[in-house]
Amino acid sequence: MTRKLILFAAAGAFAAAGASLHAADAKANWDKHCAACHGKDGAGKAAMKTKDYTKADVQAKMTDEEILKAIKDGVPNSKMKKGYSDKLTEQEIKDQLAFIRALAK
Ligand code: HEC
Repeated sequence: MTRKLILFAAAGAFAAAGASLHAADAKANWDKHCAACHGKDGAGKAAMKTKDYTKADVQAKMTDEEILKAIKDGVPNSKMKKGYSDKLTEQEIKDQLAFIRALAK
């Protein structure tokens, strides 16, 4: 509950900062770099063993730090061995985090 409130507050701050432009970029980057393995809707793909990020309980097990690190440096021993620090800027990586958080229902 508290967590939901925090996320809600964070989403509000995100919008207030005029970040809706970033949101559009984040969607484009997701479709381009991530959707093939994580699904366009983020629900994951069985063949890739990716988790369902549309589930709040799945997201509750991941910290922001873990998500940022996974995007930056990749995930060892997975199909996402290589991170995106050379393809996405620091800001774009943060936007991917916000995008992923917004997938949870
Ligand atoms: C080649 C396939 C592939 C691509 C492309 C890919 N991923 Fe992944 N990703 C995986 C796999 C496999 C895992 C490990 C299983 C899991 O955690 O769902 C993973 C894990 C993650 C995690 C870690 C979740 C946790 O448990 O902490 C995040 C966050 C993530 N990916 C985000 C992204 C983002 C954002 C992109 C695009 C910039 C991306 N991935 C592109 C396959 C991929």
